[in-house]
Parts: sequence; structure tokens; C-alpha cells
Amino acid sequence: MTQNADQMEMVAKTFPGLEEILAQEIRQIGGKKIEVLNRAVRFFGNKALLYKSNLYLRTALRILVPVLKENIKTQIDLYTVIKQYEWENHLKPGMTIAVDTFLSSSVFTHSQFVSLRTKDAVADRLRQVSNRRPSVNKTDPDVLINVHLANNVLTVSIDSSGGSLHKRGYRRGDFEAPMNEVLAAGLILLTGWRGERDFYDPMCGSGTIGIEAALIAREIPPGIFRTHFGFENHMNFDEELWNKIYDDIQEKEWNGNIFSSDISKQAIKIASLNARNASVLKNIQYRGIDFRNYPAIHNGGLAIINPPYGERLGNSQIVNFYRIIGDSLKRNFTGAEAWIISSNLNALKHVGLRPVKKFRVFNGALECRFNKYEIYSGSRKGTYK
Ligand SMILES: C[S@@+](CC[C@H](N)C(=O)[O-])C[C@H]1O[C@@H](n2cnc3c(N)ncnc32)[C@H](O)[C@@H]1O
Repeated sequence: MTQNADQMEMVAKTFPGLEEILAQEIRQIGGKKIEVLNRAVRFFGNKALLYKSNLYLRTALRILVPVLKENIKTQIDLYTVIKQYEWENHLKPGMTIAVDTFLSSSVFTHSQFVSLRTKDAVADRLRQVSNRRPSVNKTDPDVLINVHLANNVLTVSIDSSGGSLHKRGYRRGDFEAPMNEVLAAGLILLTGWRGERDFYDPMCGSGTIGIEAALIAREIPPGIFRTHFGFENHMNFDEELWNKIYDDIQEKEWNGNIFSSDISKQAIKIASLNARNASVLKNIQYRGIDFRNYPAIHNGGLAIINPPYGERLGNSQIVNFYRIIGDSLKRNFTGAEAWIISSNLNALKHVGLRPVKKFRVFNGALECRFNKYEIYSGSRKGTYK
């Protein structure tokens, strides 16, 4: 997409708090000149790396390829700069487009307006050079254009992913507040777990954390279930290269244990269905268990707990519930490492264990803490900040 094929700039978008983990993932697949940004990581590489990024990166939401960067001051500049760009290199007559706009600018405050002007500029350019206008398809465009305006700096990118990469394609059913797949994978990678010991997802809901854990342990690329990526529509799509990358996928034999459970039988049904769709059902043992009565574990291991945050419960009820979670951990998870994610910072204090590590992450719009606790016999009681 840029002139020098080995020096293509790419920007992988992610959630706040997962940037460093994403940078590590990019390093592992061969990204060069990696730079951690806010909610994103910039890196360089060739077309094969672009395809691999979409297929392999667990914590990326989308991979953008910037094609145009300019300082602009006015709305007229916006139109002129975008119209000057050679869109005919990306869009064949008859192709459909859509524009996503992200603004942090005092000059431009209406993203819909910027999207509209961008579409006009692209369409006018193509009419000028080919006498055909592209049509707009907001839900399933052939080419998704991403416009980012930070103060006066305009960056226009091609979205190589098409739709958000959290839509892996395995989740058919949802229960209560399902966790975003990218966040679930990011949390697991933040803990350092890669399949070495038993894994527990004891409030599994629709099963996302346990399923992402199985994909990590078996080294199954998260994009393997997707039927389509945006780059497959692009004019410079190299089908042979993509087929080769796909054929080179190598899963790992893994015989470890993942235990997913929930108090709700309905959740267990949905989670196991999702695990079957992700072809990891054989790696996960599902059980309907109330965490308050969790049977004692003996082999150590690592648990990630995503409890209700208490939006619908009264304060005393949720504080009491978190106290019970802490008690159950102390009683039944001796020798294990437990991580809890919650936006309810007050309730978290009542777990009664001292966090040995804390990350700040976001579950949707909710700012959360992701706290690590080491459970040893006689773990200290009390209220900790
Ligand atoms: C925030 S949801 C978890 C969402 C899950 N991570 C996902 O991706 O779908 C919280 C879950 O905790 C479960 N839960 C609530 N109380 C529980 C208890 N005492 N024992 C086990 N699970 C419980 C709920 O049924 C719900 O599925």
C-alpha cells in the first residue's frame, strides 16, 4: 500500500492498558520499529506481516495502514487533501466504501461531517479519474477508510481488518455481560499464563476467558474462525501469499487443564457451545458450581475471576459478595494465583487479600482494576486498598 513494500507502516488499535502486551505480540510475529502509542501500537513490515497481524494478534482490534498524513487547518483543506490522494490505486469502479472518523480536534467537532466530506472527496476524485463514483455501504463495505484527526493532524488509513478483530467468529451465544474477546486474551497474556499450569475461569458466563485461554495454550491464531478480512477485498490482495500464511498455521499439542464454571446452568450451556465452535471443547471442563462452594483445588494454578460489578446490586450486597469471593479463595485456592477484574474499586477492597500487582484496564466504558492475589495458607485477612 506504500511505495516500499518492506517499510509499510501499520497501526494496530487496542484497548487502554493492553498496549504493551500488543507490542510484545507484534514483536513475536516480526514487526519492526515498534512504537507504543495511546490505545495503539505503530510498527513496520511487509504485506505478509499485515496478513499475519490480522490472523495472529490476540490483543489487536484492527490493523490500519496509514496512506495519508497532512496538517490541515480548515474544512476546505480536509476536502482538498483527501481529493488529491490517488484513491484509484485502492478502489476499482463499482467498489463500495465506508468511512470511520475519530476526532480529537478543536477545528473539527462533528465526526459525521468529516466522514461525509471524506466520502465526497474520495468520490469526486474517482469520478474525475474514472468517471465512476463509489457507492457507500455502511455495514459491509469493500474498503473501510479510517480518518483520524488529532488537533490539526489528519491521518487517513485503510482499515485492513474490515470489521473489529474481537469478532473472532466462534461466539454464537451470549450470557449476561460477555467479555470482549480482545480484553479476555489481553488479561490472560497480562498474567503471563501460556498454558503451564491449571487455569480456572470460575464465573465464566459465555465462556470467553476460558476459550481464549485454550486458544493461547494451543497456539491457535484467534483469526482462524473469521470467514473474511477487509484486506481480501483490496486491489493489491495477494491471494497466494495469504493462502501460504494460512497453510503455515501450526497448532500445538496441549494436554493441560482449563476449568470453567458458573452458578448458572444456562451460562454453562452457552459457554460449552461457544467452546465447541472454537474447537476447544476437549480442552475445557465445564461445571455448574457456585463459587461460594468451590471444591478445594490441589495443584496450584491460576484463576481469572470476572464477577458481577454490582451495577444492579445494593452496595452492602456487592461488598458482601466480594468478601465471600475472598473467603472462598483463601479456603479453596491455596497455592494458586488469583486475578480479579472489576470496576467496583470499593468492593475489591473487601476481597480481604493484598493485591501483589494491579493493572488498569477498561471493560467497555468501565475503568477497571485487574488485581493479582497470591493465595497461601493463612493469607492475611483485612481490608486493603
Ligand atoms: C460478568 S459475568 C462474566 C462474563 C464472562 N467473563 C463472559 O465472558 O461472558 C459474571 C458471571 O458470574 C456468574 N456468577 C455470579 N455469582 C456467581 C457465583 N456465586 N458463583 C459462580 N458464578 C457466579 C454469573 O452467572 C455471570 O455469568
